[in-house]
This record gives sequence, C-alpha cells and structure tokens, in this order.
Amino acid sequence: MTALSLPPWAVVSEERKAHIERVADLLRRWADALGVDNGEKDRWLKAAYLHDALRDADPELLEELAPEAWGVPALRHGPAAAVMAERDGEDDRSVLDAVRYHSVGYTGWDRVGRMLYLADYLDPGRPFAKEERRALAERVPQDPDGVLEEVVKERLVWTIQAGRPLIKETVELWNALVEGRSRRS
Ligand SMILES: [Fe+2]
Ligand SMILES: [Fe+2]
Repeated sequence: MTALSLPPWAVVSEERKAHIERVADLLRRWADALGVDNGEKDRWLKAAYLHDALRDADPELLEELAPEAWGVPALRHGPAAAVMAERDGEDDRSVLDAVRYHSVGYTGWDRVGRMLYLADYLDPGRPFAKEERRALAERVPQDPDGVLEEVVKERLVWTIQAGRPLIKETVELWNALVEGRSRRS
C-alpha cells in the first residue's frame, strides 16, 4: 500500500514536486473523464506520486538500487523508485511496472503504466511544444491509444535526433502499437 502523496523516502526538489502534482492532476482529470472507478484512479495516482520520488536522489543511492537501468544513469530513478516502493510494501505489479518503466515505455503495461507515461510527457509545465501537447492531453480520454502512439513517436524522434541509443523496451512498445493499429484497421 502506498499513500496518495509522496512517499516518506522521496527526494525531490520543489520544482519536481510541482511536476509530480501536475502529473497527478492530469491523471485525475482523465480518470474522471473516462469514468474509471476510484480504485483504478487511486492506482494511477499512486504511480504518479512514486514515479519521480527519487528523481533528485544521490546518484550513489540510485546506482545501488538500480545498477542496470539500461546503462544510462539518468534512467535509474524509475527502477530505483520501484525497488523502494516494493520494499515499502507496494505489491501492485501494474503500479510498480508503471514506475519502473516510466522513462522508456513497456509493452507489458496495462492502463496504469500507459496513463502515467502520457501524463508525464504531457505535463503542461514542460517548456516545449506547449500548444501541441495541450491538444494531445485534451484528446487522451477519447483516443488514448492514438495519443500514446504520438507520444512514443515524438520521444523516439527526439532520442534519435539527440544521437542517443534507443532502449529495447521503447522499440518494442512502438512496434506493438503499430501492430495493434494495423490489426484494428
Ligand atoms: Fe522521471
Ligand atoms: Fe516525471
């Protein structure tokens, strides 16, 4: 069980805290628009409060908790927060996977992971492409799969343009979304 607020072990700046609150607000809005029950909504919010709880933690702690993390230190905070949450008694696999993979994507996600991934990217406080991302956030309740595909695509393009390596889980998610769309059409 995790409370619907930052866990006691969180290490976050004020700015980060504000991001986490905006992510939680988006998830509340989408949950209400979709009419999901309170139990499901609470799982989305738990994932929101956990996902960046160690974003500003000491690099040594992050390395200790998540030594692998795709070989990229900046990606350690998700897996590390999942480890801490599990130690803290969180046993909801979907919440833990949402937190663990929130920076990279994961085909094994159910709605918790997908919604968190969308809210994290579509946070209105991020400085880039504000209008485009606001429009995508509006569209989520009607077309979550379509928006997810857009967001994964934008993040893949960004990664390639930055000359960074693609993470296997991201490529697998992209391929699964494309396959799902061609099966539907
Ligand atoms: Fe993050
Ligand atoms: Fe985040």
